[in-house]
Amino acid sequence: MSANVNLSRHELMAAAGVELAIYRKGCAAPPWEESVAWNDVGPDHKAMNPAMQNFALHLASQSVIAEQMGMAAAASLMLEAPSYTLRLNLARAVADEARHVDVFARYLQIIEEEPTAPNENWERVALELGAERTFIQRFVTHSLLEAQALGVFTVLAEIFSGRILGSIYLQLVPDEARHVALGEEYLRQLLLREPGATQEVADAIDRSLATTGVSRAVAERYAQFSDLSSDQIHETVDRKRRSFRARVLAGVTDLEGG
Ligand SMILES: [Fe+2]
Ligand SMILES: [Fe+2]
Repeated sequence: MSANVNLSRHELMAAAGVELAIYRKGCAAPPWEESVAWNDVGPDHKAMNPAMQNFALHLASQSVIAEQMGMAAAASLMLEAPSYTLRLNLARAVADEARHVDVFARYLQIIEEEPTAPNENWERVALELGAERTFIQRFVTHSLLEAQALGVFTVLAEIFSGRILGSIYLQLVPDEARHVALGEEYLRQLLLREPGATQEVADAIDRSLATTGVSRAVAERYAQFSDLSSDQIHETVDRKRRSFRARVLAGVTDLEGG
């Protein structure tokens, strides 16, 4: 165990109020997985047309992978987190992602379909979350993936509106919103304490914005099932990622690339 788990009275008194508030909000959020109408998933899935069924199968399959990656990333960041408030929040995120993995795995189990193969882009994401990247780079990539999930799930809740899968995506949104808020708050506070880290954080955000995100091809696939155009879908997801950059760097000026 490499994490510094010592705690001083000073640290207790100076504990970041917003980070603690985010953690306690997560603890107070009622468990929702059992409110899903699991008994109706089979007939509800079969009631969709074949193209929609395939799309649902694909999404549930990729979501199991994405949520596991999010869970593992949060767990590894937790071990290196420099404060107990960040550790608590990342532990909460691990628990949230575990529920997310379970709901999609449960959906796949009920519909009795073979999960689709992982998308190739998960390898690139794994690289950005891997040991060659610094803590800040991994934290930023993790946070931006949460912002991406927030945008994507919002779109999918709309596409599958009236379906059980849509209700699942809708339930995930507040969890992912909390994970995004944590990322923004931690980085904002970091830059207030250590303005010298600004360029490193900005570079990490720009790198992650360039290497991860929803591709045009994915947006086009979503658009086949949506009233929104692929451009609108791409913009909806990307806006969440870009606004993350703007909010983290809000108190900082004279940065290149902003
Ligand atoms: Fe998640
Ligand atoms: Fe998340």
